[in-house]
Amino acid sequence: MRAHPHTINPGAISSGVEDVPPGGDQRLRSMAASKPGIVSRPRLVVVDDEQPVLKVIGRLASKIGFDVVTCTSGAEAMRTLLRKPADLAMVDLRMPDVNGLELLRQIRESVPGCEVILMTGHTAVDSAVEAIKLGAREYLTKPFDFDRLRQVLTAIRQELERRAQMVALESQIAKQIEFCGMLGRSPAMQEVFSLIRRLACHAKVALISGETGTGKELAARAFHQAGPRGAKPFVTINCSAVVDTLFETELFGHVRGAFTGAVEAKPGLFEAAQGGTLFLDEVGELPMAVQAKLLRALEFGEIQRVGSLQPKRVDVAVIAATNRDLRSEVAAGRFRGDLFYRLNVVELTLPPLRDRREDIPYLTAAIMRESALRMRKTLNGLTPAAERLLQQARWDGNVRELKNVIERACMLTDGTLISDRELAGAFGPEVAVGTPRARVADPGHHAESPAPLDELERVHILEVLKQVNGNRMAAARLLGISRRALYRRLERHHLEKAAPRATMGRRPS
Ligand SMILES: Nc1ncnc2c1ncn2[C@@H]1O[C@H](COP(=O)(O)OP(=O)(O)OP(=O)(O)O)[C@@H](O)[C@H]1O
Ligand SMILES: [Mg+2]
Repeated sequence: MRAHPHTINPGAISSGVEDVPPGGDQRLRSMAASKPGIVSRPRLVVVDDEQPVLKVIGRLASKIGFDVVTCTSGAEAMRTLLRKPADLAMVDLRMPDVNGLELLRQIRESVPGCEVILMTGHTAVDSAVEAIKLGAREYLTKPFDFDRLRQVLTAIRQELERRAQMVALESQIAKQIEFCGMLGRSPAMQEVFSLIRRLACHAKVALISGETGTGKELAARAFHQAGPRGAKPFVTINCSAVVDTLFETELFGHVRGAFTGAVEAKPGLFEAAQGGTLFLDEVGELPMAVQAKLLRALEFGEIQRVGSLQPKRVDVAVIAATNRDLRSEVAAGRFRGDLFYRLNVVELTLPPLRDRREDIPYLTAAIMRESALRMRKTLNGLTPAAERLLQQARWDGNVRELKNVIERACMLTDGTLISDRELAGAFGPEVAVGTPRARVADPGHHAESPAPLDELERVHILEVLKQVNGNRMAAARLLGISRRALYRRLERHHLEKAAPRATMGRRPS
């Protein structure tokens, strides 16, 4: 007959909570408890073929604050853990169906967030050493020394609680260091927030520069929200996604009959943004002829629909963003100097994530919290090794890449903690095995069997496109090639359809 795992009802032992030493201040505790989906009683699976042992541990661990599930065989324990991962497993070394060391190996492999304590009735130094080498947290001998058992379980319970509180606290701090949807605790980001706060009320034109994924669009929205136009429209145009010949009518509109096919008059984005803000994303892609017309609109607050001689007055703030160095574009004659100087009266530069690594834990906590709620999962944080990986990664795709990686890791994880292995998987299938070496700043590892160069190129292009949400221009820039060269490579690798695509160029909101 199959043994059923037995859950000990935590409600029945709730009066035993006084056994848990205070561990952490009350404010943190209530803060942690107020985060839905983040903090819960840690789960313990106890595996032993002897019922009395299960009973004794179950009772004690419940009092200490664990949700306890007991199993009488290794197979049952694995089924239970795979169905719902635990934070801790206590495993008997000698069971009829499986050796405890083998079960330890399986748990480390399949449920990486679960710590393991081995228990044995026989003092065997060899297996103790082996167990620790395999990653066991503790090795306890039977009959139990109850003081020691209580001490070990309490220490683990407190550690899990501290970790959960840290995540809750980080999310709480993240709230305090939030400005119009942007998070940043680093001095550089605090300076950005302060600049936006001070300038949003006065400036009608601004230029935001920074690498891909650093939050330029978010900063533009913050600028809009924090200023007097916050309740008016915020209209976006992605200049890299508009065909050259359509720019003018997109921005300024046209009259009926202005060109073949213009059967109806149509207002442009300037008119759509009346009273609010027009966000010109990737402004460096604007054709020269349109640059001149934009300059006119900025200088005189007037536009002309295509096909009309009648000027129209518009009251629109213009925020432009670029991940190019516009100064060198001006020097190279690809961008009008007069337009650049008109735009950069207020210039905001968003620092890359690698220069403000102190923001990573706060961004991560906020992203995890959001993902936990959306995915209805209980996520308590990352293992220390996973945290180290986040700190070491290059983050070429900046916050967008961090967000994608954490969201993927949240999806992949079965436990309540994200491990370094799950994180490595989330960096992309290409680097799923071992350390995500291709993406880590200090490449200490080498591939066991080198992949063909062509394959590496294919995989790398896909990775970069993923990081920049399919934006061809941004991908080409990160890869150090022209957009045309990127298209040629996509064609060569048959990736035109498979590669991620950017969304449309016009997004009024
Ligand atoms: N400081 C931040 N706090 C929270 N989320 C952020 C922050 N910066 C960026 N993000 C998030 O990262 C993602 C990328 O941000 P955004 O689109 O604003 O970057 P960008 O600089 O415009 O990138 P690109 O140059 O590729 O267009 C978005 O999901 C955004 O919400
Ligand atoms: Mg952008």
